[in-house]
Amino acid sequence: MCGIAGYVGTKNASEVIIEELKRMEYRGYDSAGITVTHKDELFTLKTVGKLNALEELISAQKTKLNSHCAIGHTRWATHGKPSSANAHPHTTPKVSVVHNGIIENSAELKNKLIKLGYEFESETDTEAVAKLLDYYYNGDPVETILCTQKELVGTYALGIMFKGYDDTLFALRKESPLIVGLGNNENFLCSDLNAILNYTNKYYILENNELAVIKKDSVAVFDQNGQKLDKKINIATWQADVNDKHGFEHFMLKEIFEQPNVLKEILKHNIKNGLPDLELQALPNLEEIEKIIIVACGSARYAGLLGKYWIEKFARLPVEVEIASEFRYSYPILTSKTLVICISQSGETADTLAALRLAKLNNVPTLGIINVKGSSMSREADHVIYTNAGAEVAVASTKAYMAQICILYLLAVELAFKRKTLQESQIFELSKDILDIPEKLLNILKDNLKEVENLANFCSQFSNIFFIGRGLDSAIAKEGALKLKELAYINAQSYVAGELKHGPISLITENALVISLLSQERLQKKMISNILEAQARGGQILLISKEKILQNIPAQMKTLELASCNDDVMPFLTVVVLQLFAYFVAKTLGHDVDKPRNLAKSVTVE
Ligand code: G6P
Repeated sequence: MCGIAGYVGTKNASEVIIEELKRMEYRGYDSAGITVTHKDELFTLKTVGKLNALEELISAQKTKLNSHCAIGHTRWATHGKPSSANAHPHTTPKVSVVHNGIIENSAELKNKLIKLGYEFESETDTEAVAKLLDYYYNGDPVETILCTQKELVGTYALGIMFKGYDDTLFALRKESPLIVGLGNNENFLCSDLNAILNYTNKYYILENNELAVIKKDSVAVFDQNGQKLDKKINIATWQADVNDKHGFEHFMLKEIFEQPNVLKEILKHNIKNGLPDLELQALPNLEEIEKIIIVACGSARYAGLLGKYWIEKFARLPVEVEIASEFRYSYPILTSKTLVICISQSGETADTLAALRLAKLNNVPTLGIINVKGSSMSREADHVIYTNAGAEVAVASTKAYMAQICILYLLAVELAFKRKTLQESQIFELSKDILDIPEKLLNILKDNLKEVENLANFCSQFSNIFFIGRGLDSAIAKEGALKLKELAYINAQSYVAGELKHGPISLITENALVISLLSQERLQKKMISNILEAQARGGQILLISKEKILQNIPAQMKTLELASCNDDVMPFLTVVVLQLFAYFVAKTLGHDVDKPRNLAKSVTVE
């Protein structure tokens, strides 16, 4: 969270910074700011609100912003509410700092600096870094930064400028990602490589405790002892994704509509001669694995829950699905026969990355299911399966989640083949089932759109919404409730339908809407009983199911009918309806669908 941008070269620096920040706005968008060098001074503008507010400030101050060297920032608040004072850069007359991460000892540092006569204007942890740099400044920026670093506890990617160094950026990294882009007579700084791919495909990845001195025609990198390092230049082999809505009202809607194609591409590349082939050679002895632990956060973890179900059913391998922020501080039982799978769209989520590192520390084979190429997890996992969903701009995950569950389904089928837990004819059937899904998804997007929108209009009046399901539907219920919470700010909870009677049913009154997912034919009788129990308590029911099952429902209720396919692939259809549902409810309520309040797409702090 928080995006750091930097530029030094021959172009108008503020324009480049805005371009970079636009590509990193997913990392936070509660406030933004920029520092440029202007006539030997540091000139800073910052404002609460999204990037367009900063753009307006910049255009009102065009002459002062005419510089070739700048740092910029887009913020997701950790310490202190979104406000101009708390926005970055944080400055003193001598220094300007942008930061991503958390300075854990900022309170101690602040006390020390106050005693030394410094006054604080913001509630942030970052201001302490700016003032500490100011305190230690001795005319030599590198020495000053190394000296300051010794006192910093926590995680940080820092972009720094010093007064009098009109053509130089300084950068320091510990844990939070930081990349130096290498151009022709210009160089860049960014939190995410995709922010600079329109300018250059050459880059250095700063590792922990590395400090970079960036000028337009040179970049020098030092370790924490000030020793100059010989860094390897990386070359990105992919292009920057185009961030364009292509005529859709929102990125989220566009990304929902991209899903059939995303699936088609995954299936085209990973099913060969009717059998899944995820090219898992990098994970030797896969057949000997005795346990899988899937670690992830948010929607990616809910994808993992479906993966557990499929892997256990098809490949008969025990799977645990762990919340990364808990796993990293737990005492997991990891042996050489455990495979740890980290699922992440961004490949940067701090907790998932820490979980991956914990697994590696224990010498356990690791597999990343990742969307963003060049991300930290993609570099550190033993083997990576890219979801190749393309850039996902909307904060709420849709196509990346869809791609994750497709890869997990294929992985389960491939493991079943390798472990011979299913007959070959069954493997072919399972592959065929998933191959039919893109067409069915297209039909839903074509035929059911208006119906989902109407249902969403009806549902937007409820402030208590329950999602219930059994088996695979219970995992989809979690994702549906999360989407509604994220986008519509409605108190939406998901429950395993069989658990309702153990407590949550006491919350069901005529004011509650119960969205009941019933795509699993084998569980239909049990599920119908649970739905009727909720209806008997006055709950309004919206049943999402398939025709065959709908015929067996003994009571009147609102329904939405899905195409029929094998139970195991029904989640692919159900989830798209729930994505659309959350989208339309949020739109009806007038919320910013692509940038919901308080959230960020990539969570790089704990
Ligand atoms: C945030 C996003 C979610 C995402 C989660 C994990 O909470 O809003 O959409 O599922 O982070 O992110 P990752 O990049 O690791 O998949």
